[in-house]
Amino acid sequence: MADKEAEKKQAASRAVDEVRDGMLVGLGTGSTAEYVVREIAARIARGLRITATSTSRATEALARSLAIPLVAFEAVARVDLTIDGADEVDSGLRAIKGGGGAMLREKIVAAASDRMVVAVDSSKLVPILGRFPLPVEVLPFAASFAARRLEELGPGPRRRTTSDGSPFLTDQKAYIFDLPLGAIPDPEGLARTLERLPGLIGHGLFLDEIDTVVVGEGEGVRVLRRG
Ligand code: 5RP
Repeated sequence: MADKEAEKKQAASRAVDEVRDGMLVGLGTGSTAEYVVREIAARIARGLRITATSTSRATEALARSLAIPLVAFEAVARVDLTIDGADEVDSGLRAIKGGGGAMLREKIVAAASDRMVVAVDSSKLVPILGRFPLPVEVLPFAASFAARRLEELGPGPRRRTTSDGSPFLTDQKAYIFDLPLGAIPDPEGLARTLERLPGLIGHGLFLDEIDTVVVGEGEGVRVLRRG
């Protein structure tokens, strides 16, 4: 197993230590979240009693295949704990998410959650956000207009495509544009700018949602807590 995969798995396992009997748990999306889901399923098999809700169709299908008791998020008003991955995290527990294109649902589930724990491998820690191209989600109706406005923020926004070249579609059937902005000195200001753009329905900046980050580092883990 590559070191990075080992770190993701260790971080996922430590993050799942936060789960308690009786909780409603939000399940994130991506490869680290997949380790989380598999670990939760293993602990359920050993007696853990929880219900889960999912941030994406892909995670829902995985959780269902592992017999994790699920409730549709449409019927959920509050979640006890969500465990997710991230593409980048800074020392202020601000993150970029959306490499898997699920950040809109991830942000909604995070907002509904009493706590959000993010599990990452050590390569995801950055001194300043922006090495990872920032994903934003755009209604197809607004695609051309949004592309022009996103160009004003920095050159080279790219509409995400699948391996056959067709547009990548989110679970909401919307497009993702990836913005290669480089260092983002003012993520809060950028988030405000993006949130004022009609047709843009989500972005990957998670600035105050995350309470705890579990970082897989070598053979162990490091836990970073807000405040
Ligand atoms: C999906 C996400 C993922 O959490 C993020 O892309 C990290 O994925 P991985 O754990 O596979 O590196 O935000 O929308």
